[in-house]
Amino acid sequence: MRQAGRYMPQYRKLRQKYSILELCRNPELAAKVTLEPVHRLGVDAAIVFADILLPFEPLRLGLTFTPGEGPRIERPIREAADVERLPTFNVEAELGFVLDTLRLVRRELADDVALIGFAGAPFTLASYAIEGGSSRTFTKTKRFMYQTPDTWHLFLSKLADMVGRFLGAQARAGAHALQLFDSWVGCLSPDDYRTYAAPYSRKALAIAREAGAPLIHFGTGTATFLEDFAAAGGDVVSVDWRIPLDAAWSRIGDRAIQGNLEPAALLAPEGERTRQVRDILKRAAGRPGHIFNLGHGVLPETDVAAVRAVVDLVHG
Ligand code: CP3
Repeated sequence: MRQAGRYMPQYRKLRQKYSILELCRNPELAAKVTLEPVHRLGVDAAIVFADILLPFEPLRLGLTFTPGEGPRIERPIREAADVERLPTFNVEAELGFVLDTLRLVRRELADDVALIGFAGAPFTLASYAIEGGSSRTFTKTKRFMYQTPDTWHLFLSKLADMVGRFLGAQARAGAHALQLFDSWVGCLSPDDYRTYAAPYSRKALAIAREAGAPLIHFGTGTATFLEDFAAAGGDVVSVDWRIPLDAAWSRIGDRAIQGNLEPAALLAPEGERTRQVRDILKRAAGRPGHIFNLGHGVLPETDVAAVRAVVDLVHG
C-alpha cells in the first residue's frame, strides 16, 4: 500500500514531469512506478500504481489532484438526481489503462512476487464523491446518509456493482490478489457501519469473488466493529495499529490477517522501530496467514532506508 509515493526520490522525480493522473493513465510509466519499489524495498508483493478515485472520471464526477490539498471532485454528489444519472460504464473500456498496467507488470515481475489490484470500497468512494475531496469530519457524507437514506442506498449499490466489476477485470488482467480499500469507514459507529456501509462492501466483494482471486479487505479505525467488518467479506482482513494484532486475530476467527505497523513507527529511531516490528511478529506467533504490512500508507516524510530495514527484519 502506497509503496510508491512521495517518500521515494525516483517517484518525486517522475512527478516533476507528470501529474499523478498522467502517470496512472500511461501504462508504461505506471508499470515502471509499480516495479520500482519492489526492487528498492524487497517486498513480496507489488501493488499496481493507480488510485481509488480513478472511476470518478467515467462516472463523470470530474477528478483533479491539487498539490498539498489532495483530490478534488469537480461535480460532487449533492442530490438524488446526481445519483440517478450516474452512468453504468464498461470498466474494460473506461479503465483499460489500469488493466494494461497490470498486464505489463505481470510480464516483468518475478514469479515469486505477487501482484495486487485494488479498488475503493463503496463507503470510502461515496465519502469523496459527496464531500468533493478529503474530509476530517465527513459531515456532508453523514448528512446525506441520514437525510436521504434511499438515495444513499441507491448510490452505494451502484458503486458496489462498479467496484466489483472493476476488481474482477483486474484479476482477469493478471492481478493475483485484489484489495478493497475502506480507508475512512472508521468514522462510522458500529450500528451505522452495519446499516450504511457493510452491505455494499459485501456486494462488491461477492461480485469480485467470481473472478477467483484472493480478496483483502482493508480498513482503518475498525476495532469497534471488527466482527462486522470481517463478516462483510475477504479472505484477508487488514487491521490498523489501534488494536494489537493478536486481539484482532482472535476476533476475526479463521481468516488471514494483514497488518499492522503504525506508519509513524518508520519515523522512530531504529530501536523503537525494531521493537514495534518484533512485537507484531510475536503476536502473530508464526501462525500461517499473516501478511506483514503497515496499518495505513507510508507517510511522505519516511526514509526509504527505514522501510527497507523493516522488510529485511520481517524476512529475517
Ligand atoms: O504504490 C502505490 O502507491 C500504489 C498506488 C496507490 C495510490 N493511491 C497512488 C497515489 C494506492 C494503493 C492508492 C490508494 C488510495 N488513494 C487510497 C486508499 C489507501 C489509503 O491510503 O487510504 C485513498 C484514500 C486514495 C485517495 C488519494 N489519492 C488521496 C487522498 C490522495 C492525496 C493525498 C496524498 O496522500 O497525497 C491521493 C494521491 C495519491 N495517490 C498519491 C499516490 C502515490 C500521492 C500524491 C502524489 O503523487 O501527488
